[in-house]
Amino acid sequence: MSDKILLLPGDGIGPEIVAEAERVLGVLGEAYGYAYETDRALVGGAAYDAAGDPFPQVTESACHAADAILFGAVGGPAYDALPRDKRPESGLLRMRASLDLFANLRPAKLYPELAAASSLKPELVAGLDILIVRELTGGIYFGQPRAQEDNPRRAYNTMVYSAEEISRIARAGFEAAQRRGGKLCSVDKANVLEVSQLWRDVVEELAPEYPDVTLSHMYVDNAAMQLVRDPRQFDVLVTGNLFGDILSDLAAMLTGSIGMLPSASLNADSRGLYEPVHGSAPDIAGQDKANPLAMLLSLAMALRHSLGQPELAATLEAAIGSVLASGQRTADIAAGGPALGTRAMGEAVCAALRERAG
Ligand code: IPM
Ligand code: MG
Repeated sequence: MSDKILLLPGDGIGPEIVAEAERVLGVLGEAYGYAYETDRALVGGAAYDAAGDPFPQVTESACHAADAILFGAVGGPAYDALPRDKRPESGLLRMRASLDLFANLRPAKLYPELAAASSLKPELVAGLDILIVRELTGGIYFGQPRAQEDNPRRAYNTMVYSAEEISRIARAGFEAAQRRGGKLCSVDKANVLEVSQLWRDVVEELAPEYPDVTLSHMYVDNAAMQLVRDPRQFDVLVTGNLFGDILSDLAAMLTGSIGMLPSASLNADSRGLYEPVHGSAPDIAGQDKANPLAMLLSLAMALRHSLGQPELAATLEAAIGSVLASGQRTADIAAGGPALGTRAMGEAVCAALRERAG
């Protein structure tokens, strides 16, 4: 039985970077005997253009049939004027909800070769390796009531969490900490918000089940400050949907290039959606400039978390590391030096993989 991988290229640079993931999969098949089959579907603006809906039924069914989904990016200026429910981003939100992808893993790891690209001084970020575990299907993104109702000059959203929603994401955080450095920091705003007090209480209740994890709590404003002051104090952070959205962009910049960061969004069966953190970058779309490495690192996460191939994941990550170590760069990480295009960088990773296969 071969693994079923669904490709959702989406918009902007999405198709170019997903094409590189496909080529890398081809090498994993040929040189490493990995058995997989791919399917592809439309999402985001591309789906709106073709079907008037950013997350059509056929795409939803294909998502449910897949073991892992490789997602490029969605969105672009052409869609900004559409009503909210037709926008590309709403396709992504509906996909997360439909597949119950509540656990979003966003690692921020500094590659030593790229230390100079960080916004922070190299001595603050050397060796940085943190993981943000963001709740992805609840909180203020989905809470009811939400609206702009009778009075057109008033609008609101609601931050709601149930104890069940909190405990399942907290467990994902504790388990990630067990696999890594054994430290979990739960981020909330319990000094102001009732929903955050519940969050803190539920996380605290679970702590005795994970005696090997050191738990701490931090208010989100302080966490933002601490991430810039001394990011290496953290191992795993677990937090709600909105706080995680904001902190993960902040953490991304600590590593210098958002073009390097992968993510996984998982449900209770560990099926998942894998996407680069960077988005659709319409300004460079179609120009063979985008860095495909975040997409390829997302493929590595898929191999590890959904496809039961931890060794292939490690091999792919090592191949990417060796490409960086040999000095090959795309423009976003080249610091003004010579740069490879999307295709050439994908080919460099394929070559490193073939070489490793011997
Ligand atoms: C992200 C993005 C999305 C989010 C948008 C595109 C809906 O910012 O994945 O972080 O806010 O979750
Ligand atoms: Mg975001």
